[in-house]
Amino acid sequence: MSSLVISPHPLVAHKISLLRSIDTEPNNFRQLVRELGALLTYEATLDMRTESIPVQTPLAETSGEKLVDEIGLVPILRAGLGMVEGVWELMPSAEVWHIGLYRDERTLKPVQYYNKLPVLPRVSMCLILDPMLATGGSAVATIDLLKNWGVSRIKFVGLIGAPEGIARVQQAHPEVPIHLGAVDERLNEHGYIIPGLGDAGDRQFGTG
Ligand code: PRP
Ligand code: URA
Repeated sequence: MSSLVISPHPLVAHKISLLRSIDTEPNNFRQLVRELGALLTYEATLDMRTESIPVQTPLAETSGEKLVDEIGLVPILRAGLGMVEGVWELMPSAEVWHIGLYRDERTLKPVQYYNKLPVLPRVSMCLILDPMLATGGSAVATIDLLKNWGVSRIKFVGLIGAPEGIARVQQAHPEVPIHLGAVDERLNEHGYIIPGLGDAGDRQFGTG
């Protein structure tokens, strides 16, 4: 079964609580999504690989570390977009590959509308960025796409997950670690996470 890591960091808990609040306006909401994206990705990339390199300081020669993983950030549109900038500040050389999916309101199944992945991947590890893991349909569809593309090291980084979505990803892709800021109680009859934060896309882009 894939590992599930719920951030133990007090800053994450604090910022997720602000994010949930109905009083948080889109401007603050976007800022929080950006910061949480960076904090959670920092934790999710603890196992990135490095190689030793020589480093000359002004005073002496020493050895240092250089990252060797080529990272692909894969935001699921729309809501995942807000997590990209914060992560990019941590790893500016990462490539960003957008995947466009929306949930059909009636079936709750993901519908794909954008995918410009080239034939062959140039990255060795992909981080899927999406604030919400609800039924898990969008996450599973994106992992399917990335595996078919040829990437085997994949992680999901999200802000809030429902038990239903976590179980679905773990069943479909047991080797894909899931990193979340919080796990909530359940989904409601419309597939929304309870208590959750409402619609992550609408709250970022002011379209609710
Ligand atoms: C939201 C969210 C996820 C998806 C999660 O996107 O950003 O992509 O729902 O739900 P699931 O786990 O049940 O698939 P939405 O479909 O609302 O699209 P949007 O970001 O474009 O508003
Ligand atoms: N997508 C959202 O934006 N929020 C939810 O609670 C579920 C799916």
